[in-house]
Amino acid sequence: MKQNNRNQNLKRLKRIKDYIYPSKIIMDIGCDHGYLIKLAFDDEKTKIIKAYAVDNKNGPLNQAKDNLKEYDNVIYLLQDGLSTFYDDVDCVVIAGMGGELIIRILNDFFNKTTINHNLKFILEANKHSEKVREFMFNNGFVIDNESIIYEDNKYYEIDSFVKGNIKYYDYDIMFGPINLKERNKEFIDKWNNLLTKYKNIVQKIDDNNDKSSDKSIIEKKLLIQKIEEVLK
Ligand SMILES: C[S@@+](CC[C@H](N)C(=O)[O-])C[C@H]1O[C@@H](n2cnc3c(N)ncnc32)[C@H](O)[C@@H]1O
Repeated sequence: MKQNNRNQNLKRLKRIKDYIYPSKIIMDIGCDHGYLIKLAFDDEKTKIIKAYAVDNKNGPLNQAKDNLKEYDNVIYLLQDGLSTFYDDVDCVVIAGMGGELIIRILNDFFNKTTINHNLKFILEANKHSEKVREFMFNNGFVIDNESIIYEDNKYYEIDSFVKGNIKYYDYDIMFGPINLKERNKEFIDKWNNLLTKYKNIVQKIDDNNDKSSDKSIIEKKLLIQKIEEVLK
């Protein structure tokens, strides 16, 4: 994360922290500054008892060590994703990465591990949250908590997954099942913004009569239809 982002009110990280409870031992993959772990130790309700701070780069891991030096029960791991895992962990957090990287990390893990039924995954992809949801649904997870946070002029989709059995549909993958039910302000604003963006793109392509963009225009028009239906 860039330095200027560090002075924010940490709205996104606080929401992720809220989803940790009742888990007590977290593994934060891509912990960077270690702020999430700090929030999770300090919060009256969450009060985790132990954390694994994981990063694949020395710089961020050293930052985390520095920021978390007053906390005894933190184990620092320099590694790729979940390549080493400890069975006492009951909540894995992967936040602030692209969806495809998150899926790659989880796929590597699922291929070599039997997942404990109590293990929760809190995932916040900066891009392609829908791909992450689809991947998790296909691996037998359901969403128990979900929301959209607006911070730094961006919308962040946060999903918490636990093992379960719910039948989901295309719209659940695209928009998030709880987001669809709650339809809160951030949800409406995010999709209204995207609707305007896609309509502008389609309008420009139509105006230019650009045949090379046929496939992309069909995709965008379909998206527009779906968004309009959901926002009705
Ligand atoms: C943008 S920061 C996000 C930090 C924090 N999780 C948050 O949400 O604010 C991404 C962090 O993930 C780390 N990272 C990237 N790929 C990784 C991987 N394959 N395994 C572990 N950490 C990784 C980066 O070094 C960086 O510190």
